[in-house]
Amino acid sequence: MARRVPKNLELLRAAFDPKRIGDILPGDEFDIDGVEFVCAYDDASTAERFYIVKSPELVARYRVLCNEVRGGRIFELGIAEGGSTALMALDATPAKLVAIDLEEQPLPALDELIAARGLDESVRPHWGVDQSDHELLAKIVDDEFGGEALDVVIDDCSHQLLPTRRSFEALFPRLRPGGRYIIEDWNADHLMREAVVAALRQSIAEGDDELRESIRESIRNLHDQSAPRRSPLSQLAIEALLWRANGSDAIAAVTVDDLWVTITRGPGELDPIGFRLDEAYVDHFGLKGW
Ligand SMILES: C[S@@+](CC[C@H](N)C(=O)[O-])C[C@H]1O[C@@H](n2cnc3c(N)ncnc32)[C@H](O)[C@@H]1O
Repeated sequence: MARRVPKNLELLRAAFDPKRIGDILPGDEFDIDGVEFVCAYDDASTAERFYIVKSPELVARYRVLCNEVRGGRIFELGIAEGGSTALMALDATPAKLVAIDLEEQPLPALDELIAARGLDESVRPHWGVDQSDHELLAKIVDDEFGGEALDVVIDDCSHQLLPTRRSFEALFPRLRPGGRYIIEDWNADHLMREAVVAALRQSIAEGDDELRESIRESIRNLHDQSAPRRSPLSQLAIEALLWRANGSDAIAAVTVDDLWVTITRGPGELDPIGFRLDEAYVDHFGLKGW
């Protein structure tokens, strides 16, 4: 039976026009160990050709990361069409790479690659896993890694604060000292607002009243006081900063650039079950905001 369009891709296609998606994912191609990769989002991956939902610049960062964690233990959140999972499987040759996705249907292309390369023990996709399911994530790590600490966690998943924070609470304690927790697309909410403002300015400059009114309507909806307020994912970086500022030795560093927020594990102990980020720091100066 043919695989139906994954939910995430269906939602993306409904929300954005293809040109905008193409601006971010230009379709560049590259090859790793005889497997082709395309920088685009399409439900057409095969074991010989994977779609990777990343810009070429981000792919370059992954290749540096693979070099740094070669042979290591990796936990990935967000498989989509298998591109990043296949890339890390081939380029980092990990001792173990465990990847999860909310999507229920397994990806035949990834299963075939794993079988063809004899990676059944080292590359382990788990489908139908919500990144906010703290208990399930902890169980998967414990079952798959048998108590060995992780070298890197990379989250390219929901890009929403609450689910991302829950995964962080489950997985950050399970990193080794010096291990890195990487969160991608941490500024998506900010870029979206910038794009709305730019479109509004353009509609005013061009005297396009209809477009201007529809953008204003969208902005009014964003500020609808009756709707629950959704904090941006960037708040997690601020919380990590506050935690570091309080002098905890469980967190060694927080670095932010245009692609990633990277939070480095320190040597201090953390309770792998009870750790909650918002209990780990005191916000003396009200920096966390809402
Ligand atoms: C941007 S795509 C991942 C792209 C992939 N890492 C790559 O580079 O090709 C995001 C994925 O996260 C999954 N996702 C979204 N929300 C999730 C959640 N709450 N828990 C687990 N997975 C989720 C979606 O199903 C989607 O496949």
